[in-house]
Amino acid sequence: MSLSAQSIEDAKALALAAIASADSLEALKEAKLAHVGDKSPIARANQQLGTLTPDERANFGKIIGQAKNIVTAALEARTQILESERDSRVLVEERVDVSIPARRTPKGGLHPLTILTNEICDLFLGMGYRVAEGPELEAEWLNFDALNLPEDHPARTMQDTFFVEPLDSHLVLRTHTSPVQVRTMLEQEPPIYVICPGRTYRADELDATHTPVFSQVEGLVIDKGITMADLKGTLDHFARSIFGPEVKTRLRSSFFPFTEPSAEVDFYFNGRWIEWGGCGMVNPKVLVACGIDPDVYSGFAFGMGLERTLMVRHGITDMHDIVEGDQRFSQSFGSGVK
Ligand code: PHE
Repeated sequence: MSLSAQSIEDAKALALAAIASADSLEALKEAKLAHVGDKSPIARANQQLGTLTPDERANFGKIIGQAKNIVTAALEARTQILESERDSRVLVEERVDVSIPARRTPKGGLHPLTILTNEICDLFLGMGYRVAEGPELEAEWLNFDALNLPEDHPARTMQDTFFVEPLDSHLVLRTHTSPVQVRTMLEQEPPIYVICPGRTYRADELDATHTPVFSQVEGLVIDKGITMADLKGTLDHFARSIFGPEVKTRLRSSFFPFTEPSAEVDFYFNGRWIEWGGCGMVNPKVLVACGIDPDVYSGFAFGMGLERTLMVRHGITDMHDIVEGDQRFSQSFGSGVK
């Protein structure tokens, strides 16, 4: 191509037309390559400057420079327009409607029995008790003998107790949480203030009011000068905090091998007396079996079923609701997470 003002003017016009008609950033990029790039007519004209006389060079240099500036400015202006067009298009196309209801992922929560257990533990922790736990597969001696339940006691027969094979292992699925109290007395010097929640087992059929796997909470206090009045006061406080400030308790004379005297504890709730659990002063024979001097120390113990406590407090009429794990049941108690 021979240099002339006209050829540069033509190249510039072509470049401006290509830039003006580029309708996308991609098309503009192609136009830039063809009309501003190293192989574009304007760039090639620039390369030819070297072959010219100094006068011509000055003249054409100026013309080419001006053409280049105009094309570059047009390119920048078009780039800005196309970019802002793209930005507003993206804003529309990728619009997020924040008012659409979110799909919720359920967070999960604690089982109502666990919530109740935590509530009871918190109450007793607040009174200076410690929470003690033990194994569900328990030594027969700790579940029965140490608690003054002799070998011929009816509670030891196959009817109530799940014995574990081989029978000479002398292991049982604990029938109550009292062995945790024995373990505590064997491990710890008095004063002892413990609350023992846990799962317990008895050979019952699952029906509206029974379950072979149930939960108990037991309390044990061993200290100097502990009397039945301390037991009664503790049970009153316990009952009021679980069932409401109006609740009354009463003790009914009863029998447990590990307490003497023994009593059933009932509470008055919604117009009737309801049996809650067992209690009594720890039998001196149990203290001796656990290495505690009954002439120095005395204590009380109580134990109640958690399923029953939950059923009464919430008017649950069918045990199946508690054991089956239907989330719709559990959710009505809240997550229990503080
Ligand atoms: N361990 C008894 C039971 O399971 C309850 C109980 C505990 C009674 C403590 C008296 C004292 O039935």
